[in-house]
Amino acid sequence: MVKTNIGVLVNGYGVIGKRVADAVLRQPDMRLVGVADVVADWRVKLAAVRGFPVYASVPERAAEMAKRGLRVEGTLEELLRSGDVDVVVDCAPAGVGAKNRGLYERYGVKAVFQGGEKHEVAGVSFVAQRNYGEALGKQFVRVVSCNTTAICRVVGAIHEKIGVRRARVVIFRRAVDVWESSRTGIMNTVVPELRVPSHHGPDAQTVIKDLDIVTMAAKGSHNLYHLHMAMIETRSRVTLEDVVRVVEEEPRVIFVSGEDGIDGLNAIFELSRDLGRPRGDLYEVPVWRESISVSRDGGEVYLIWATPNESNVIPENVDAIRALTELEKEARASISKTDGYLGVVKSVY
Ligand SMILES: NC(=O)c1ccc[n+]([C@@H]2O[C@H](COP(=O)([O-])OP(=O)(O)OC[C@H]3O[C@@H](n4cnc5c(N)ncnc54)[C@H](O)[C@@H]3O)[C@@H](O)[C@H]2O)c1
Repeated sequence: MVKTNIGVLVNGYGVIGKRVADAVLRQPDMRLVGVADVVADWRVKLAAVRGFPVYASVPERAAEMAKRGLRVEGTLEELLRSGDVDVVVDCAPAGVGAKNRGLYERYGVKAVFQGGEKHEVAGVSFVAQRNYGEALGKQFVRVVSCNTTAICRVVGAIHEKIGVRRARVVIFRRAVDVWESSRTGIMNTVVPELRVPSHHGPDAQTVIKDLDIVTMAAKGSHNLYHLHMAMIETRSRVTLEDVVRVVEEEPRVIFVSGEDGIDGLNAIFELSRDLGRPRGDLYEVPVWRESISVSRDGGEVYLIWATPNESNVIPENVDAIRALTELEKEARASISKTDGYLGVVKSVY
């Protein structure tokens, strides 16, 4: 019998971890067992204030965390041994997940890894709309990065419904996350990634195996959201209406419009705060409606979208938990539950 009320532990309570914890709290078929980290800074202390049991991810850090005034319930390993955790969502920095994999194996606990890990950490890289079935019942899955998730949603939808012969995507990345902008970042410049293709294209192919895609990337000096510009050669001739319909029908993708004054990433961020989302998070990928264009011969499609890097992978993490534990066998059912509980919309107005 499929277990319900799945016990979830979030390991690494940073940008992604704290959002995953909040998203899990909103799912009636899941319960948050606690969060684990290696520090006791303001973020982790706020988790304790909210009543989340806090664990030390590595035993060596427990005493220091307690010394900093945090109530530490135990270590990650002790918790895994207790059998109370069905799924760990590992949101620790890139590379830590791969090191933790052995621990999860030892206790037979399922785990969702993040996009900073390599595909091989789980063998299944995941975007719910594209390959939910591949993760069904598995022990491990990797939710791909924010950039790859956005590409898989938008280009993936066009590939599925129309057919993509070749996709080329240019990515302007944010330099650094908001919370650590005081520590690192770049100013007044754009820094191109000199490796072509950038890793995002090959990463999208770990989800959509037959997608011909090349990506090029550069880092800007802003700290929120990436911007993607896509040029897509289609397998058959299309009209503007065909493309608009595909984007319109795709879950977790919305339209925004310059006509409404949405003229930059900053305006999308303000819009998402006005929507009243926790932390101003946008789970959807906003596509500029007027950027969608089709070449004169109908063989190429062009479009521009924003990638809300802190939040667009959050619904995917929730679906990944359902897929691993087989709470839902069908992508559509899980996506609709997740979107309903998180308040994901198809139109902002
Ligand atoms: N930040 C983004 O925009 C973004 C978007 C999509 C995916 N990701 C991916 O999500 C993962 C986490 O990134 P993030 O931005 O949330 O990082 P973060 O630095 O904001 O948070 C990481 C947290 O893990 C903790 N940590 C450090 N070492 C640890 C350990 N050994 N065990 C447990 N916890 C530890 C840190 O103290 C911190 O609280 C990465 O794989 C990243 O590539 C990040």
